[in-house]
Amino acid sequence: MNDNTTMQSTLSAELAALLRERFAAAFPDCPEAASAGRVVPSARPGFGDYQCSDAMQLSRALRLPPRAIAEKVASALPLPDALEKIEVAGPGYLNLTLRPAALAARAAAVADDEERGGVPQSGDGRTVVVDYSSPNVAKSMHIGHIRSTVIGAALANVFRALGYRVIADNHIGDWGTQFGIIIKGYREFADMEALARDPVPELERIYKESNARAREDAAWMEACRLETVKLQQGDPENRALWQDFIRMSRHTFDEIYDRLGIVFDTTRGESWYQPQLAGVVDRLVAAGFAHESRGAVVVDVRDLDPALAEQSRKAVEAARAKGDEESAAREDGKWICIVRKEDGGYNYNTTDFATMETRVREYGPAKIVIVTDDRQIPHFQQLFLVSRRLGIVNPETELVHVAFGTITDENGHPFSTRKGGMPKLKELLDEAASRALAIVREKNPDLPQAEAAALAERIGIGAVKYSDMAMDPITTIRFSWDAVLALQGNSGPYLQYAHARIRSLLAKYAATFPGEAAVDAAPSVSDPLERALARRIVAYPDAVAAVAAKCKPSILAEYLYGLAQDYSAFYQKLPVLKCEDAATRAGRARLCACVAAVLRRGLGLLGIAAPDRM
Ligand code: ARG
Repeated sequence: MNDNTTMQSTLSAELAALLRERFAAAFPDCPEAASAGRVVPSARPGFGDYQCSDAMQLSRALRLPPRAIAEKVASALPLPDALEKIEVAGPGYLNLTLRPAALAARAAAVADDEERGGVPQSGDGRTVVVDYSSPNVAKSMHIGHIRSTVIGAALANVFRALGYRVIADNHIGDWGTQFGIIIKGYREFADMEALARDPVPELERIYKESNARAREDAAWMEACRLETVKLQQGDPENRALWQDFIRMSRHTFDEIYDRLGIVFDTTRGESWYQPQLAGVVDRLVAAGFAHESRGAVVVDVRDLDPALAEQSRKAVEAARAKGDEESAAREDGKWICIVRKEDGGYNYNTTDFATMETRVREYGPAKIVIVTDDRQIPHFQQLFLVSRRLGIVNPETELVHVAFGTITDENGHPFSTRKGGMPKLKELLDEAASRALAIVREKNPDLPQAEAAALAERIGIGAVKYSDMAMDPITTIRFSWDAVLALQGNSGPYLQYAHARIRSLLAKYAATFPGEAAVDAAPSVSDPLERALARRIVAYPDAVAAVAAKCKPSILAEYLYGLAQDYSAFYQKLPVLKCEDAATRAGRARLCACVAAVLRRGLGLLGIAAPDRM
């Protein structure tokens, strides 16, 4: 292990490699020993900086008491430069203590690495496709869509930071039978003025009214169907209308993306894959995976997986035993994946098979990550299983569906505005900014109007984004403005505020002690509070790597919150500007600067601004 600053890996990975080597050398005949050596940061002071509990795990295989195993590993010499000691504690823990100078150097290296943030380039140029946001044409983006957008963009940032080639793909819903319904409605009762003013709500209205009519009026329904057929057959007029709807919707989406600072590498809507759909179904049939059933072509996913078949059979039986024929039928239908409808049309499933094929062929990705709400879990389960079995996706390609929970109001009820209905994304962001403006005004009464407004926008947007990522994606969010914008507690503004306060402290330091150059100082790590803070900084690359491994931006949010809390504990106890000793003062100022750098960088990966003032 070295403590130079090339940082090909994280400190905990290096320590793990060192221990692994020692385990293997101490017990050359035990294959399990060769994979031992996992380390985690020690939870409590007095137990070193990192801890390994693998001696306990190996006790059975080696038929030795854990302490004896740990002692043998600990006593193997020599100790690398970065380590002060390895001790055996309790039932057989290995506690690793770093030399203060090594810890300080490592913390500084992580903070100073402007380009990579100390993050190992484990992606190594491999490709990840991240499919996120993916709203539907002629529908407004609402509070649910923002979760996909924000989580997906953060994941894309993190993969990029790890050295992956990222293809951020906005898979917009721009195809389907709804377009016949909209075209028919448009022809009969579009309000051209409303359409020019604010097209998406008007398109939404047209769709709803036309759809309602189709339900009661068979002739209307047939007319809608014919419009869809004409569109699919390339009728110039219908295609022009359809393209207009897409253009208008995308313009509205882009306004939101601009405001959120979201970018994509490509936007291939569902329509892009249309020419491939017939071929997909042919291949599924030829492979024996799909068959005709009542005029439709379906894949019975159970045919591909005996365990699934068994599970499904039991569920159907259980429902039958209760005399509940309805749930029995539902259970039975659950694994039927329609790829061509009775009327010959293709659907969301077919499109996603084609999408999968295209992405694999074109990018050869190591991973495909798709972010949607949790109602689509069954869809992606089926899609992934069939794609693998059909060989569309080879075993080396990892497929991940990042499913997120719904957002409800504070009481757990479906979110709605005073006027009723889901709040539109734009209204939500406007409200966030206006509430943040109140905070800015209070903290900074003298700030010129325009500057205050710009700052409030960054704080408000950051707050909404953070609240979408602070928790494990799958959790349901109870949205409360007070929590979202709180300056205390686990919120975006709390982290932004922590960062801004450090920046202002550093400005004061520079002004008060003009001769002192904290940049040249090593971060101070003599006090346990400083040490905890430095250790946290050093763990930043691990947090980033964990986000990618688990596809959970919440891991980074949690890390940053912990960093801000460690900082606050440090700052409350240990004076910086008021510290009498110049060398300690410089070392503490340097430590603060490292915290600020990591906070800014981490927030940046989450897509959240870190202004210098609040
Ligand atoms: N448009 C879909 C929706 O709003 C999400 C699409 C996700 N991506 C995919 N490849 N299916 O629910």
